[in-house]
Amino acid sequence: MSDTELVLFLLPSILSLLLIFILFQRKHARFNLPPGNMGWPFIGETFAYLKPYSATSIGDFMEKHILRYGKIYKSYLFGEPTVVSADAGLNRFILQNEGRLFECSYPRSIGGILGKWSMLVLVGDLHKDMRTISLNFLSHARLRTQLLREMERHTLLVLNSWRENSIFSAQDEAKKFTFNLMAKHIMSMDPGKPETEQLKKEYVTFMKGVVSAPLNLPGTAYRKALQSRSIILNFIQQKMEERIGKMKEGEENLEGDDLLGWVLKHSNLYGEQILDLILSLLFAGHETSSVAIALAIYFLEACPSAIQQLREEHLEIARAKKQSGEKELNWEDYKKMEFTQCVINQAFFFSCYAKKHSNRNNKRVFLYVKVISETLRLGNVVRFLHRKALKDVHYEGYDIPRGWKVLPVIAAVHLDSSLFDHPQHFNPWRWLQTQSSHCFMPFGGGPRICAGSELAKLEMAVFIHHLVLNYQWELADHDEAFAFPFVDFPKGLPIRVVKLHNFI
Ligand code: HEM
Repeated sequence: MSDTELVLFLLPSILSLLLIFILFQRKHARFNLPPGNMGWPFIGETFAYLKPYSATSIGDFMEKHILRYGKIYKSYLFGEPTVVSADAGLNRFILQNEGRLFECSYPRSIGGILGKWSMLVLVGDLHKDMRTISLNFLSHARLRTQLLREMERHTLLVLNSWRENSIFSAQDEAKKFTFNLMAKHIMSMDPGKPETEQLKKEYVTFMKGVVSAPLNLPGTAYRKALQSRSIILNFIQQKMEERIGKMKEGEENLEGDDLLGWVLKHSNLYGEQILDLILSLLFAGHETSSVAIALAIYFLEACPSAIQQLREEHLEIARAKKQSGEKELNWEDYKKMEFTQCVINQAFFFSCYAKKHSNRNNKRVFLYVKVISETLRLGNVVRFLHRKALKDVHYEGYDIPRGWKVLPVIAAVHLDSSLFDHPQHFNPWRWLQTQSSHCFMPFGGGPRICAGSELAKLEMAVFIHHLVLNYQWELADHDEAFAFPFVDFPKGLPIRVVKLHNFI
C-alpha cells in the first residue's frame, strides 16, 4: 500500500475520532470541569495510570497530576471520561452519596470475570439483599465464636509448618491461611484435602486473570481465568447439589452452618446468584486480607521497636491465659489487642515517639499502637474505587457531569503529607493522635463499606499474635510491595524465620 493509499484508508477513522472529540468538547463546554488532560482518544491516560509503582507511594502519574492540576482532576480512564479525586472531602462525599448522586461502577471486565451477580458490581435492591446475607454471615456473633476459633486453628496450622532457617514466601503463607479459612467458612472444606487443593489451584489462575488486562484471546491470563471461573463454578454447583440432596434427606446440619448452607436455607437467591455470591466472597475475603498480612510482616520486619512492643503485649495476654488455664484466644483477648493496644511506660514512649509530646506527665502512658491501621494506611490494599455520577454534581466549584466515571483514590489521601506526618514512614504510634482518622478509609465508606472489615482485622490480629509470640523473622531477599494497581510482592516476600522459645 502506498503512503497516499494508507492516508486515504485511515482518513475516515481519523475524521470520526476528531468529530467525536469536538462533540465531546462542545457537550461539556457548559460545565466547569476540573483541570486535567484527557490524553489519547479512547485510551486516554489509562496505561500511564495503571503503570506499576511502589505500594507505599502514590506513583509518578498521580504525583505529577496532583502537582499540576490539584487533588481533583479530570482524565480519560478505562474508556470513559473520568474525575479522579485525591481529596479526602470529595472521596467521603462520593461514598456517602452512593445510590443518590453516585453509583458503584466497575469496568465490564470485572463483571465478566466475577459474574454479573457479584456483590462488587451489583447495585440497587439486589445489592442490598446480597449485602444483608454477607453481613449476617459475617456477624459479630459468628466472629466471636466460630470464626475466631477457626482462625486460630488455621493460623497455627500455617505457622507450625514453618521450618527454622528455611526460606519461604510469606505472601504465599498468608494466602494459604486466608484461603483455607474462607474455604472452610464458605463451603466447609478442610485444608490439605485434594478437593481444597484443586480449588486453590484453579483459584490462583482465576486471580491472575482478575488482575490482568481484559483480553479474551487464546493464551491470555484473562482467557485462562474465564476457564478457571467455569471450573470453580462447576465445583461450587456440585457442592450445592450435594448439599441440597442432604437437606432433602434431613441431614442438612451435617456440614455445619457455612455460607452455602445458610444461603440455601435462608435466602431466596437462585442458583446462578448463589454461585456468584460465593465466588465474590471467596475473592473479596481471601485476596485482600492475605495482602494485608504480608504487608504487616514486611513493615514490622523493618520496625523492631514495634515488634518488641507487640511481643510484650501479646506475651501479657498469653501469660494471663496460662494462669487462667485457658488455651484458645477469646473475644476478650482480642479486645485487649485490638489494633494492638499497648500499655507501655514513659521511658519507652519517649525513646521511640515524637518529642513533640514532651509535655506529658510522669504517669504510665497508655499507648494505642495501631499496627493494623498503620499497615492498611501505608500499604493501601485497595487503592481506589470505581464509581459513576448518576446526576450532574457540583462540588467545591467543579462540575462532575452525569455519566462520568469517578475514581475516589483512597491511597492518595492516606499518603497525603498535609494529613499524615511523613506519610511514607511506617509509624504505628501516629495513631495515638486522633487527627486525620476521619480521612482513613481502607475499607471504603458509605453504604458499600467493606462487609468483611471486622473479619479482616480479626484475621490480622490473630495471625500477628501467634507470629510475634513464636517467631523472629527477616527478609531473605530484597522485596517490596508494588501497586499493579492490586498490591503484590513480586518475589512473594521471601523470609527466613527463627523459632522463639518464650517462657510464659
Ligand atoms: C484488609 C482486608 C480488606 C480490605 C482492605 C477491604 C477493602 C474493601 C473495600 C475498600 C471495599 C469497598 C469496595 C467499594 O466500595 O467499591 C470492600 C468491599 C467488600 N469487602 Fe472488603 N476488604 C478487606 C477484607 C474483606 C474480607 C475478609 C471480606 C470477607 C468476605 C470482605 C468482603 C467484602 C465485601 C462482600 C465487599 C462488598 C461490600 C458491598 O458492596 O456492599 N472484605 N472491601
